[in-house]
Amino acid sequence: MTTLKTSYGHFDDPSREYVITDPLTPSPWINYLGNTRLTAFVSQQAGGLVFYKEPHARRISRYHYMPAAQDQPGFYLYVKDHATGALWNPHFGPTSTPLDSYECRHGLGYTMFVSSRDGLEVSLRLFVPPDDEVMLWDVSVTNRAKESKKLTLSSYLEFGLLESARESFWCYLKNQIGFTYDARENWIKYDYHVFQAPYAPAMFFSCTRQADGFETSRAAFCGRGGSLERPKALLGDGFSGSQIPAGGHGCGVMGVDLELAPGATERFAYMLGVADEWALASVLRKKYSRMEAVDNAFASLQGEWNRKTSLFQAETGDAHVDRFINVWNPLNCQITLERTRDISTDHTGLDGMRYRDTMQDALAMTSIDPEFAKERIRLIFAAQGKDGSGCFSFYPYAPKQRINEEPRRSDNTVWPTMTVTNLINETGDLSFLGEVIPFRDGGEASVYDHILLGLQYIHARRGPHGLPLLAHADWNDGLAVFHDENAESVMLGMQLVHAANLLRDVAIRLGRREDADWCDAVSAELTEKLNAEPVWDGEWYCRLLLSNGMKIGSKSRPQGKIYLEPQVWSVISGVGSDGRGGMAMDAANRLLNTRRGLMIHTPPYTGIPNPEDPLTSNVPGTGENGSIFCHAMTWAIIAECMLGNGDRAFEYYRKLLPSIAAEEEGFEHWGREPYVFTSSVIGPAQEGDFGKAGISWLTGTASWAYIAATQHLLGIQPTFEGLEVKPCLPSHWTGVKVSRRLRGKTYRIEINNATGEVSID
Ligand code: GLC
Repeated sequence: MTTLKTSYGHFDDPSREYVITDPLTPSPWINYLGNTRLTAFVSQQAGGLVFYKEPHARRISRYHYMPAAQDQPGFYLYVKDHATGALWNPHFGPTSTPLDSYECRHGLGYTMFVSSRDGLEVSLRLFVPPDDEVMLWDVSVTNRAKESKKLTLSSYLEFGLLESARESFWCYLKNQIGFTYDARENWIKYDYHVFQAPYAPAMFFSCTRQADGFETSRAAFCGRGGSLERPKALLGDGFSGSQIPAGGHGCGVMGVDLELAPGATERFAYMLGVADEWALASVLRKKYSRMEAVDNAFASLQGEWNRKTSLFQAETGDAHVDRFINVWNPLNCQITLERTRDISTDHTGLDGMRYRDTMQDALAMTSIDPEFAKERIRLIFAAQGKDGSGCFSFYPYAPKQRINEEPRRSDNTVWPTMTVTNLINETGDLSFLGEVIPFRDGGEASVYDHILLGLQYIHARRGPHGLPLLAHADWNDGLAVFHDENAESVMLGMQLVHAANLLRDVAIRLGRREDADWCDAVSAELTEKLNAEPVWDGEWYCRLLLSNGMKIGSKSRPQGKIYLEPQVWSVISGVGSDGRGGMAMDAANRLLNTRRGLMIHTPPYTGIPNPEDPLTSNVPGTGENGSIFCHAMTWAIIAECMLGNGDRAFEYYRKLLPSIAAEEEGFEHWGREPYVFTSSVIGPAQEGDFGKAGISWLTGTASWAYIAATQHLLGIQPTFEGLEVKPCLPSHWTGVKVSRRLRGKTYRIEINNATGEVSID
């Protein structure tokens, strides 16, 4: 195991913050700010970008992904201390001037830098209030030195082209945009001319104090030969008051001169605002020109998060578990549902909203914030075809709905049943099922019928063994390497059983007897086929039946002998309830478990040895080729709980938690944020890299891990009739206390693990 290296930071549990104390983290460790409309992400060096609604065609500021990740530019505050001549940033970069102290506090919906140098303490708190399209930069400066200080503070925000993809082929000449300063409004205006109507908002950058100097041109701020590390405007030349109404690279630079007596503090705020028209932008600017409004906005942001996190609060005696269940997992779920897989340090923001991923992201959010979950579910169903098909991704905020049907995935429409059932169980309200939502290609149907049609679509496309066809791939993208659209998917077969079982109960509640019978028949028929030869491989379930007769995920194969997904879904769906599910999970434990958890399959595919063998796609040990795939591991936790194996379920959960993984693997080696989930972890096939984390933040792991922990390990499940408590705890825990709100009432639950007693108040 790698030796434990510097930790870069720690959790501050009472403040619900992760505090980074070394700005040179192994990768950008980011946080998201936003209100689902105006959204930003920001790293520990204030690198990041901001966009309105979606980052494809409404990206306001720039972030350099290419040619290699640079974590620049971002939301910069420069501090120029005239006595010492030092130019520094409280977030360390981009000047990288050494600081006397540095802290980056990532909290729920905000990030705050608190740093000092030469007796000057500067804090910068970045956030977006719940109700307004404004990103606030709350700045506070205190002079702790014995002498008074003359300072210039300056913002830097780099505007990009709203239509971000165009920027990659129109780089220098930007006739379609312009940047001007208006002293009366004290703002820098970003004017956008291309395709103005209907989606070019009014965008401005402003400050609660009248600017003492400004630049709207990046070139003027940096100066000839200068850079963001050494901007000439702050290193001697002074602000030139540049305006570039006809193109160029714009920026939001506003200088504030201060003279601070010893002990004195000054506070002001910058803001980046967006409105549909300039008159409204002006109203927004005026509103936030008072610090009182900035304070109220922050209080309202905190209120919002208090409401969300108060749904479920656990005391388990394990600090890692508590902080994930109570704080970080809900945050991760919220952001994943907001951002689907579009933008992060790993995603460049050109993809749309993912049909199946977003539906899974909504699963946990149907509990944490049912209204937001419903909003997203409606968007997803509006991207469904009237034949019941889903799609890979879609762009709901494009002027005209855009749909990507490629790459084809067979599992798109199997997930809604799980999410919508959870919603109904949370709210106890069936009315959402009756809500009518149009199809993308004409016609409309109720939510219930959208779900049913989606299952029928999968059911109608089955192969010779009666199992659903793979298309290019099911949930596991890696299966596309087999190039066999007519392969049959065991995992999807099991998921169809599970979905049919869930929908059956809903159908009965709605009095749709025929549908319930259909669900029963599908479930029974598939359960039988899934237990027949050749699906059952003797000790576990195989993964695919290829159309050439070959089995994937079978003892008979030299590589990819066993896959995790069919083992877990055999338990979740009940297909393996005759004891095979338990056997299959034992086999998974024996063959797939590593010090960091369960590999997605083993052995990984290597090389392209002969045309009969699959292509490798990912490097062995990475991604879908033998990594520890966190998303799938969450299902293993659920399955082990359903089998009553609390110790094994907890072992997997513990291994999954990024804060534990970072400690055990070494923070440097783990590499990614210790406070949010990652999609995968490099597996043992890569000896040196084993234990390195993959994509962070935007992963289905977040939603499912929340369900696994709250509904299965702690066992507190919302049902249509009310709360059901069926814990499956590790044997070394003494007990658990939970406060759980359901339908307006808060329940206090105590579980005594020694006696198994549960009290609910
Ligand atoms: C990634 C993808 C998701 C897919 C999974 C397994 O998480 O975002 O769509 O289901 O990998 O391949």
